Amino acid sequence: MAGRKHRVAGGRDSLDVVHSDKARYVRQVFDTIADRYDRMNVLMTAGLIYYWHWVLARSTGLRPGQQALDVACGTGELSLIMARQVAPVRLAAPLPRRPGAAPTAVTVSSPPLQGRGQRIEGGTPATGSATVATAAAVPPASTATLSQGRVIGIDFSPDMLAVAREKVARTPYRSVIDLRYGDALRLPFADCTFDCVATGFALRNVTDIRQALAEMARVTRPGGRVLCLELSHPTPWLAGAYLLYFRHVVPLLGRWAARRFERQFGREHPLPPYAWLPASLAEIPSQEELAKIMQEVGLSPVRYRNLTGGVVALHIGFKPEPGATGSY
Ligand SMILES: C[S@@+](CC[C@H](N)C(=O)[O-])C[C@H]1O[C@@H](n2cnc3c(N)ncnc32)[C@H](O)[C@@H]1O
Repeated sequence: MAGRKHRVAGGRDSLDVVHSDKARYVRQVFDTIADRYDRMNVLMTAGLIYYWHWVLARSTGLRPGQQALDVACGTGELSLIMARQVAPVRLAAPLPRRPGAAPTAVTVSSPPLQGRGQRIEGGTPATGSATVATAAAVPPASTATLSQGRVIGIDFSPDMLAVAREKVARTPYRSVIDLRYGDALRLPFADCTFDCVATGFALRNVTDIRQALAEMARVTRPGGRVLCLELSHPTPWLAGAYLLYFRHVVPLLGRWAARRFERQFGREHPLPPYAWLPASLAEIPSQEELAKIMQEVGLSPVRYRNLTGGVVALHIGFKPEPGATGSY
C-alpha cells in the first residue's frame, strides 16, 4: 500500500491523500483536537453519544473482576464505561487489608510478543517514548480474581492519551485503567487475554480494518466478545439529512480546527481535521460487510444493531470456545 494514492470521498471535500501517510495524518488530527474532543463529540451528536455508549455498556457482558481492552481508546470514554463494570466503585477503591490476607495485586508478566513492540509509523510521540509497550502485563483472564478487574486503553495519539489520563486520574478508576501508547494493528498483548475487547469510532481511522479486527479477535479469550461501535450507513430516509449534516455543518467545525492545526504545526494541512470526518465516512464498510469481516477473522456468531436509524451501528462478535456449537 506504500505510497498508493487513496481517494477519500467527502462531497466537495474529496481529496487524495497518500495512503501510507494515513496513520500519521490521523494521529495529527487527533493530537490537534484532543483537548476539545469530548465536548465536540457531545455537540456534534447532539448528545446521542451518551445513548450510543449506554447501548454499548449493556452489551459488553463484563462482570466484576474481568479484563477488558479499549482499542484506540482516545480520551478513554469506553475505558471508563468498562471500568465501572469490571471494578464497581466499592472494588475500585483500595480495599482495607485484613491482617495476614494475601496481597490483592496481580503481577503476572507475559513474554514479549514476537513482532510486536515496534515503532509506530509517524515518528516520535509527544510523550517522548517512541516505542509501543512490549509486553502484556495483564494476567490471562482465567487467572483474574474477582477484585482484579482491569481495563487497558491503547491509542497512538499522545495528546488523546494525555486527555484520557487526566480524566481517569480524577475518577475512582485510576488504579483500574491502564492507558498505553500503542498501535491497534499490532496489539502488544498475548492471545486470548481479554474478556471483552471494544472499539469506538476508530475503525474508519485505521489503515487496515481487517487487521485491526483480527488483532481484536486474537487477544479476546474464547467465550469473550469483540464490540465495535462505529458510524455506519443510515437507512435511506435518513441518508440525505446525514450527508447534509456532514457536508455543511461539520466543515464549519473544520475551519476552526484547521486554524488550530496551523497554529500547532506551523503549516497548512492538506485535509483540515474535521474535513477528515466526512472523508472518513467513505472508509466505513456497510453493516453487513463489517459483520462479514468479523466472521472472517474468526468471530462467531456476529450480530449488529443499528442505532439512531443506522447513523451508528454496534457490532458484537463472539470468540468461539473450542468445540462450542451453541449460540450466545
Ligand atoms: C474518533 S477517535 C475515537 C476515540 C474513542 N474510542 C471514542 O470512542 O471516543 C479515534 C481514535 O483512534 C485512534 N487511532 C486511530 N488509528 C489508530 C491506530 N492504528 N492505533 C491506535 N490508535 C489509533 C486515534 O488516535 C483516535 O484517538
